[in-house]
Amino acid sequence: MDGLINSRITTQNKRSEDRPIEKSLRPLRMEEYIGQDKIKNQLRIFIDAAKARNESLDHVLFYGPPGLGKTTLASIIAHEMDVQLKITSGPAIERPGDLAAILTTLEEGDVLFIDEIHRLNRVVEEVLYPAMEDHAIDIVVGKGPSSRSIRLDLNNFTLVGATTRAGLLSSPLRDRFGMICKLDFYSPEELEIIVTRSADILDVEIDVKGAGQIARRSRGTPRIANRLLKRVRDYAQVVHQGAITSGIAGKALELMEVDSMGLDHVDIRLLHTILLDFAGGPVGLDTLAASIGEDSSTIEDVVEPYLLQIGLLQRTPRGRIVTAKGKKYFGEVLDSDLISMLE
Ligand SMILES: Nc1ncnc2c1ncn2[C@@H]1O[C@H](COP(=O)(O)OP(=O)(O)O)[C@@H](O)[C@H]1O
Ligand SMILES: [Mg+2]
Repeated sequence: MDGLINSRITTQNKRSEDRPIEKSLRPLRMEEYIGQDKIKNQLRIFIDAAKARNESLDHVLFYGPPGLGKTTLASIIAHEMDVQLKITSGPAIERPGDLAAILTTLEEGDVLFIDEIHRLNRVVEEVLYPAMEDHAIDIVVGKGPSSRSIRLDLNNFTLVGATTRAGLLSSPLRDRFGMICKLDFYSPEELEIIVTRSADILDVEIDVKGAGQIARRSRGTPRIANRLLKRVRDYAQVVHQGAITSGIAGKALELMEVDSMGLDHVDIRLLHTILLDFAGGPVGLDTLAASIGEDSSTIEDVVEPYLLQIGLLQRTPRGRIVTAKGKKYFGEVLDSDLISMLE
């Protein structure tokens, strides 16, 4: 369904090619986690306080676009608290019994990470409320009039939830988190540090300008930065057999049709459609989605956030519009061969 979105090299969603490197590149300690300083400072205090009191950490919710480091933070929390991490996701927990089975195996202080927590169904969610609040679950035994509910105590645990959209979370669930953190896109400077660190781990030679080149085209997203680094490394190895310089990185990325701002054919098509088919907008999300043949939630979660962030697109009550900056940018792009991406 979202084939086009995920087929692009700059998708924020995880691709199979990310798997082998993600593990080795994932920071384990807070000090290795670049950027998101506000979140790190808050977490540091939370973690130190919980440790000093010998308590488990309060429940934490992370939200923000894919690839910004939510899963990474969950594993850092477990690591820093010196406890085990259990990973699951909203869609994977189908029945209340599935969740009960996970909760009852948690040991004292463990971290339970639920990815895409907004996709938990209501009945499952209701099991979470007493679990989060009183470390207990209510299990119904028997059927019909003779059924009764018994309360089962759980070990203390920390729920770490992640979602791309906090707005989709029900308020009773949201209210049960002690800390709610929004992850922001990374600056090119922060991404440059991430690229340099990753290159070091992967044993790839890269100069400062080469790292900067990759950083600027990574849509503010570490996952994309690491993926582009890997692709540029392959290019450098085959074509150039040397360190990654700005020129090499630029050439490799051009070949992959990633432009100087990290935009690719999906972004270009979206902007192009609003500009040419809807006279620059406003156009409603669903209409726009239908015109470019994509899922509206994918556009909203994955494509739009970066275009909004860099100011090419704007959301208005009447729909999406391309900004003056967007028009200018597009005018320049139109002159180049990037427009060939649309064909
Ligand atoms: N702050 C960061 N510093 C360094 N690397 C990061 C950071 N955030 C994310 N990464 C890298 O990006 C990849 C994707 O992060 P991940 O936590 O899986 O994102 P999310 O769960 O938000 O989709 C990780 O494998 C990690 O290597
Ligand atoms: Mg994740």
